[in-house]
Amino acid sequence: MMTGENAFKGENIIITGGSSGIGKAAAQAFIMMGAHVTIAARHEYALQQSVEEIQSNVVTQNPQIDYAVLDVGNDEKVSELADKYNANHGSPYIIINSAGTADAEYFEEMSKEVFDKVITVNLHGTINMCRSFIPLMKHSGGHIVNISSMAGLIGIFGYSAYSTTKFALIGFSQSLRCEMKRYNINVSVLCPPSVDTPMMAMLEKAPKETQAIETSGGLILPAEVVKAMINGIRKKRFLIIPGTTAKFLYMLTRFTPWLTEWYIDGIVKKNQWNERRVVGG
Ligand SMILES: NC(=O)c1ccc[n+]([C@@H]2O[C@H](COP(=O)([O-])OP(=O)(O)OC[C@H]3O[C@@H](n4cnc5c(N)ncnc54)[C@H](OP(=O)(O)O)[C@@H]3O)[C@@H](O)[C@H]2O)c1
Repeated sequence: MMTGENAFKGENIIITGGSSGIGKAAAQAFIMMGAHVTIAARHEYALQQSVEEIQSNVVTQNPQIDYAVLDVGNDEKVSELADKYNANHGSPYIIINSAGTADAEYFEEMSKEVFDKVITVNLHGTINMCRSFIPLMKHSGGHIVNISSMAGLIGIFGYSAYSTTKFALIGFSQSLRCEMKRYNINVSVLCPPSVDTPMMAMLEKAPKETQAIETSGGLILPAEVVKAMINGIRKKRFLIIPGTTAKFLYMLTRFTPWLTEWYIDGIVKKNQWNERRVVGG
């Protein structure tokens, strides 16, 4: 691999969840650096729109981008895509597992179906991609980026399903990191804080406490997440945490977990108290 601006020129990159938010911003950044990018998600129209938007945004001549309709939770379809990808492009140099879904509800009110859906997409989706694409990468090496979250380092109110998947992704990625070394495949796990993407729309229906926690540190932009991701790939970092506040919160949680618990419990208590005042309790 070359270094600097041309580091990813001509490299094959596949990005799940590439039709929106962080995945789309990553696709654009890699296209600008001359990579060949395939974005994958379920809705074809959104994929087409993203391809057009990225093509019109980049100054590169003949941007190399295509798309694949894929539900990452369907292991057979993921396996079929890997075969097709291999036939058309060969092995991917980088896989970015950005496909994800979030649902914030009180655990007691969350249906089994919703809980299981979050696990299928966020956790099994990433595992399915790794299982099907690693055999293609084994002989050429490369890099896998699994997108977890700050909610994978700190359990968040309302995110019993989401945090379960994001914690699990860190464990999965740690094991994978050790095992993939022998194939020269690096593994990173990216843990963004709240990011300004369409995913955040789910907060409108979330418990007040979740809303207050999610907005307490503000939102960072997808471009900032992607910058940290690319820097982390270049430096072969395992844990990538974008943003200064998030890094600080991670250190706080690691060394003084009781302080993070106290901080989060304080936000929750304040909002529950406000709620009681509103209903006159
Ligand atoms: N936004 C945040 O604050 C934040 C913070 C930390 C971590 N993250 C993580 O970052 C990743 C990207 O999130 P985002 O904010 O960019 O979300 P987003 O804007 O909602 O994009 C999610 C993407 O995933 C795709 N997707 C959803 N379910 C899928 C499935 N079953 N199969 C294939 N693709 C699927 C969506 O397309 P289709 O619906 O068409 O399939 C879309 O392209 C997620 O893993 C998320 O958990 C986000």
